[in-house]
Amino acid sequence: MPLRTRRLGAASLALAALAGFTVSLLSAQPAAAADPLRTLAAAKGKFIGTAVATSPLANETAYRTIAAQEFNQVTAENAMKWDSTEPNDNQYTFSGADQIVAFAQANNQIVHGHTLVWHQQTPGWVQSLSASAMKTAMLDHIATVVGHYANNPAVQSWDVVNEVFDENGGFRTSFWYNTLGSGFIADAFRAARAADPDAKLCINDYNVEGINAKSTAMYNLVSSLKSQGVPIDCVGFQSHLATQYGFPGQLTENVARFAALGVQVRFTELDVRIVLPADTTEINTQNQYYTNIINACLASTACPGVTIWGFTDKYSWVPDTFPSEGQALIYDANYNAKADYTAIATALGAGTGGGDTTAPSAPTNLTASGTTSSGTTLSWTASTDNTAVTGYDILRAPGASGGTFAVVGTSTSTSYADSGLAASSTYRYQVRARDAAGNVSAVSSTVSVTTLSGGGGPGGCSAVGTTQTQWPGGYVIQPVTVTNTGSAQITSWTVTFTLPAGHTITGSWNAVLTVSGQTVTAKNANYNGTLGAGASTSFGFQVARPTSDTALPSGYACAAP
Ligand code: XIL
Repeated sequence: MPLRTRRLGAASLALAALAGFTVSLLSAQPAAAADPLRTLAAAKGKFIGTAVATSPLANETAYRTIAAQEFNQVTAENAMKWDSTEPNDNQYTFSGADQIVAFAQANNQIVHGHTLVWHQQTPGWVQSLSASAMKTAMLDHIATVVGHYANNPAVQSWDVVNEVFDENGGFRTSFWYNTLGSGFIADAFRAARAADPDAKLCINDYNVEGINAKSTAMYNLVSSLKSQGVPIDCVGFQSHLATQYGFPGQLTENVARFAALGVQVRFTELDVRIVLPADTTEINTQNQYYTNIINACLASTACPGVTIWGFTDKYSWVPDTFPSEGQALIYDANYNAKADYTAIATALGAGTGGGDTTAPSAPTNLTASGTTSSGTTLSWTASTDNTAVTGYDILRAPGASGGTFAVVGTSTSTSYADSGLAASSTYRYQVRARDAAGNVSAVSSTVSVTTLSGGGGPGGCSAVGTTQTQWPGGYVIQPVTVTNTGSAQITSWTVTFTLPAGHTITGSWNAVLTVSGQTVTAKNANYNGTLGAGASTSFGFQVARPTSDTALPSGYACAAP
C-alpha cells in the first residue's frame, strides 16, 4: 500500500485552511483522482468525516495531518459525551471538546456533536436521580452543552439521543427509559432546538442500516415525532459493519423511506471489522462495504455525508470491543492508506459529480405477466441516462382508479415480481428510474392488473417469507408478509411453516411463535391480528443453524378463521 507522504507534506493546504473556516461543501469544484477524500467529497456536495480522539490529536503529527487533509467533517469520538462534559452535577468541562472544535475550525471542517443523551458514558450521579431531577439534569445538560457551541459556525449538528432501541424494535430499557418513559426523547429534541435553532438534530443508532424490526421502530418513531411537531432533522445510521454478518439488506430502500419522511440520513460511525487474521476475501468484502456506503450516500439527496469511526487501525475501538476482530479502518496502524482508502476515493471520484441534474428517461413498455391470485411479474424497457441508470422504483396503487401510488419495491434489472396481493383484486403499477446522483425519471405509463380468484373467499390469507440476511450459523427471516386475501376483515391469523432439522428459533417479533417438531406455528400478536380485505402486516424471526447448513424454512401457509 502506498504511503501518502506527498499529502503529509502539503503545508500549503493547512495554510489555506487557516485563512477562514467558511465551509463550502457544495462548491462542486472538479476533483482529480489523486485529490484527498475531502476534495472528492466536496465536489459531490458531500462531507467525508472521521471521529477524532483528543490524545493522538494533541500528540501525533501524522494523526493530525491525515485528519486535517483527508476529512472535511469531524466528530468527537468521546470528548463531547456526558462523562467528559459534565462529570459532576453542574460542573462542565469543555477542554477536550474545545480542542477538537478548534482543530476543526483551523482546518475548515464542520463538527457533528456526539452525543447528548445516551445510556453509556454517562456518570453514575445521573443514573440514580429521581424522575423529576433526572429530567431537570437532562434539560440543563442539553442547554449547556449545545448552548456552548450554538454561536460556533463549525458545530452544525448533534446526536440528541443515541441507541434508544433494543434489537427487537422495543425501546431499550435504559435508565433513561425506565425513569422517564419514552417522553425523554421528544423532551431532549425540544431542548436542543431551544439551545441552537440552527443545528441539525439527529437520532442515532446501530443495526438500523437495513430494513429490520429495529429500523422499522426507528422509522415509526421519527414519523410520529414529525407528526407531533418535535424538531428532528436527521437519522444517523452508525454503520458499524462486520464482514462476517453480510451487508445490511435493503439499505437503499431504508434510506429512501427515511428520506420520504423529510429527514436527512447520515452514516455516522462507519467501520467494517474483520475476524482476524484477515484473508483476501474478507479484505475485498470490506472494500466493497465501504464502497457500498459511499455509493448509498452519493445516490441520495437526503444524505449529506459519511463519517468514518476513526481512520487508523492504531486507534480503532474495535479490538477493545469485539475480541479477535479488527483492521476495521482505512489506514493501518502505521498510517499507511489501505485498499479501503482507494475504494472510497474511487467511489467518491466516480461519475460526473454533484453537477449532474439530468434525470433518466421514463421506462417504457411496462407490462404484467404470470399473474396469480397473489402475485404478478412486471417487465419494462430500460431507461437511458447521461451517466447510468442505477435502479428502478416500483409504484403501486390499489384499485382500478383513485388511491395513491406508493413505492412497493425496487429493482436493478428491468423486471420485478410483486407478491402478497389479495385475490380477485385490481392494482395499478408504474415504474420510474434513478441515477447515481439521485435524479429520478418521470413515471412510466400505468399498467392495470387483476389477480385471480384463488378460492380465497372470506377468511383467506397468504404468507410470504423473505430472507433478510444469513450467515454461517444463522439467518433472519423478515418480513414474513401476511395478507388478507379474502373479501372481508379478519381478526386473527395463523401462519405455519417448516423449520429444517437442527435449526432453533432464537428470537421473533410481531407474532407469537410455538414450535412442535419441525412445524412452527406463528399466531398474530395482540396488535396485528385485524386485517381489512387486501391489507397486509408482517412479522419476523431469527434462527440459529449448524454452520455447515444452508437450508432455510419452507412451506409457509396462512389460515384465518
Ligand atoms: C465508542 C468509542 O469509540 C470508544 O473509544 C469508547 O470507549 C466507547 O464508545 N456507538 C457510539 C459511539 O455511539 O459513541 C461509540 O464510541 C461506539 C458505538
